[in-house]
Amino acid sequence: MADHDLQGGIKGRVALTRMGGKDLFAKCNAWNLTDEARAMGMYPYFRALDMNQGPEAILEGKPVIMFGSNNYLGLTTHPKVREASIEAIRKYGPSMTGSRLVNGTLRLHHELEERLAAFFNKEKAIVFTTGYQVNLATLSALLPNKRSVAMMDKMCHASIYDGVRLAQANGAQMIRFHHNDAKDLDARLAALDPEEGPLVLTDGVFSTEGEIADLPGMVAAAKKHGVRIFVDDAHGLGVLGHKGRGVCDHLGVNDEVDLIGGTFSKSLASIGGWLVGERKVLDYIQHFAPSFMFAASCPPPSVAAALASLEIMQEESWRIDKVRENSRYMRDELRKMGFETGPTETAIVPIYIRQELTTIAIWKVLLEEHGVYVNPFIPPGVPPRNSLLRTSYMATHEKHHLDRGLEAFRAVGRQFGIIP
Ligand SMILES: Cc1ncc(COP(=O)(O)O)c(C=O)c1O
Repeated sequence: MADHDLQGGIKGRVALTRMGGKDLFAKCNAWNLTDEARAMGMYPYFRALDMNQGPEAILEGKPVIMFGSNNYLGLTTHPKVREASIEAIRKYGPSMTGSRLVNGTLRLHHELEERLAAFFNKEKAIVFTTGYQVNLATLSALLPNKRSVAMMDKMCHASIYDGVRLAQANGAQMIRFHHNDAKDLDARLAALDPEEGPLVLTDGVFSTEGEIADLPGMVAAAKKHGVRIFVDDAHGLGVLGHKGRGVCDHLGVNDEVDLIGGTFSKSLASIGGWLVGERKVLDYIQHFAPSFMFAASCPPPSVAAALASLEIMQEESWRIDKVRENSRYMRDELRKMGFETGPTETAIVPIYIRQELTTIAIWKVLLEEHGVYVNPFIPPGVPPRNSLLRTSYMATHEKHHLDRGLEAFRAVGRQFGIIP
């Protein structure tokens, strides 16, 4: 099947999904794309790992080298992190079965909040159940009516888009500035009615591209117009900045950025989310965000794992140096081979293929013939013509893992005519 056939097929099916009609499920029954892809052995998603030991994993019985994880510091296998999590289960059980607002808060949540606030040098922190929830909660609480404006980078993460959509339901306006373009942000802020209350929103590290946001430029534009700025630093924590403090520290704007948020599900080897900023603002958010107030809290073993990881990240700073060194090595070597990797400077190194079917075909050969696991990103996850293989690196990858990966990338790059 040619790429354009696939496109045509998708368009037809999208049209079907918009048909409406009496039976709500008709669109699901008519949607065959995943069944067809599975039948061709070309379906890359929801594949089950039997074992995940950081840089090495077992996928459906076969050993693979993992270049598709956000376990940047390799802490999911750290004995102290695992022990902290097990101990928390023993002491508190697997869940608080309630929201933070009522019975779902342990001293452990407060301890982690105090550590995060001190680490980021901010007045207060909130621990959430996921990073996704951080954005839903923060944006719906802070942009509550038709005078509110979400002024966001076009390439923001899906969770920021969804947070803004919740705000839109209450009348807020969404304005998108050109990707990573502080001048365009400045011009759009200048054009706003002074009665409107904008919040500037951006990823600190763009999660697919690995590109670092121009925060000095964006902060300057926000300050010039007297508006607040929120940075989602899911992928900067542990990789950038002094002691892994993230992108705002790396770019020298930690104190100028009003709100910084992120997740425990990457460098901190757990699941959950965090937000830091002024005490009064966070207090307001935790009383005006239904997605936070009416959802169960981050479970004890996850809080304990994040707490242990935050401590180890600062104690074992070799991990931060190593993830940077490994990522730089892969970036440089892939570029030397002739791959297009875009402007990444982080642990995320995309390999642009640009055609969606070829992207899936290369993913399959890498996995089945070379035992190399990467993540294929195709539309609608990325814009049309931006299909890519997202690779990401860890502190615990050894040189032999990286070199085996490079050999495989060279072989498939040549086989598919991507590199000379
Ligand atoms: C930039 C960004 N924000 C938020 C999230 C959501 O975090 P979580 O997985 O903790 O819900 C992610 C996760 O992929 C992300 O990349």
